[in-house]
Amino acid sequence: MAAIKIVPDVYGVGVQDPDLKLFDVIMELDHGTSYNAYLVRGSDHIALIDTVKEEFAQEYADNLAEIVELQEIDYLVVQHAEPDHAGSIRMLLDKVPGLTIVTNYAAYTFLKAIVNREFKVKFVAHDGELDLGGKRLRFIGAPLLHWPETFYSYLVEDEILFSSDTFGSHFSDDRWFNDLIDRDFLPDFKDYYDMILGHFKKYIWSALKRIKALELKMICPAHGPILRENLEYYIDLYHDWTIKPKTDEKPLVVIAYTSAYGYTEKIMAAVKAELEAGGQFKMEVFELTQTPLTKVKEAIHNCSGLLIGSPTINKDAVKPVWDLLGSLSPVDTNGIVASAFGSFGWSGEAVPNIILRMRMLRMRVMPGFRIQFNPSAEQIEEAGQFAREFMQAVLQPEEKLEKVLIYQREINPLNPYSFEAENYKRKYENEDIIVYWNPDQCTHDTNCFVSLSSVFAPEKTPWVNVNGADVATIMKTIDACPSGALKYNLKTVAASAEKIEKGPGWVGYYDKK
Ligand code: FEO
Repeated sequence: MAAIKIVPDVYGVGVQDPDLKLFDVIMELDHGTSYNAYLVRGSDHIALIDTVKEEFAQEYADNLAEIVELQEIDYLVVQHAEPDHAGSIRMLLDKVPGLTIVTNYAAYTFLKAIVNREFKVKFVAHDGELDLGGKRLRFIGAPLLHWPETFYSYLVEDEILFSSDTFGSHFSDDRWFNDLIDRDFLPDFKDYYDMILGHFKKYIWSALKRIKALELKMICPAHGPILRENLEYYIDLYHDWTIKPKTDEKPLVVIAYTSAYGYTEKIMAAVKAELEAGGQFKMEVFELTQTPLTKVKEAIHNCSGLLIGSPTINKDAVKPVWDLLGSLSPVDTNGIVASAFGSFGWSGEAVPNIILRMRMLRMRVMPGFRIQFNPSAEQIEEAGQFAREFMQAVLQPEEKLEKVLIYQREINPLNPYSFEAENYKRKYENEDIIVYWNPDQCTHDTNCFVSLSSVFAPEKTPWVNVNGADVATIMKTIDACPSGALKYNLKTVAASAEKIEKGPGWVGYYDKK
């Protein structure tokens, strides 16, 4: 494969991978993929945008060498640190010792752990520019599309958007441009959206607003065809797939269950009857051995409450239940009110095991309900009580703190929770509060900027704006930080914080325990 000219002094230097059948372990491919990378030559400097998967590093280097002497390259813009795009950075650092990597801090922390060596870095933020001489790259924050560090680059003079994974397709075709490709890649474009980007609809929405403000002649994604015809069509597709129709519908509760001898089904029926009698929910009930997993998952992605029922067989929940639980991701299930129920015989591990997995999925988990063998009339009454308590939880969700704390303690026990000032080198403060951040401890869990984007905005510099919310709100958000990378201390007791108990985000919290 060779380099391709996109417009004068802008080249595609990526590679095709037509035979790939499985991407990221999770996504089966029908038409392979490509790893798109780009080169922009200004009158003063040469910049690369992203690299390719490591196994294609030599082909990538050969493509670059068709256009420039490698030592002439000044910058590598890393828009996204996933190894399908960052995998050839080690090779570049070997061949271009003067190379400066242009990226943000989150990506920098990831890259350090990928290349395992020092490198020159220039940090950029949303709206920042890199002037190459007659060609300016303007950077556009796109956090969580689909990793925390992701951003786009907009080539101002040529009106080209380098969009990282957004608008990508796993579709290999060496004609590269959508107007030259005569095969239909729309199903692959849609699959890519569904599998990779669609978990982060809120962020796509924000990015589309930024994209729509641009004059655009071309979109150069990180996979699949370069879009230079019908751009509006593809942008509108993202818009339509992302928008959530407004609805006055009641919250959805999903019950997904299976039953060995009908006992767990009896519990399900009692719970369902109670929930229906309350009249407050829309309900969908799935018997897991009879329903395609995709259908159950789609319902769960839209639900406010989830109940899973399983018998215990051989000291565990049964396979159809694990198939479902194993196919869910916390990015989709975070915050759902959930619990489990089931009948057991000589041991009853199914319910507690399901509860454990629900915690891993960051659901707000209520105690489960289980009985031995065949539920009696009295136990059916108890199932009704279980349903009423569940109903209350769905209708009056508490804030998410407890869920996150359970996650900290039980799932991630190695995290250091104590505050050691020398580890928290970054400080952001006003007259009321000091927010501390330890970048080395940060797992980029996204909890802070999903909950409170007016204060925590990774695409900005500084990324913490302590004046973006009242003190109590900042405290609550930091209390829920799963890694403990954020902490706070109070300089004064601000009015908004008077009634707030200091939680695990407070620097002295664990000393008091
Ligand atoms: Fe194509 Fe998220 O890497």
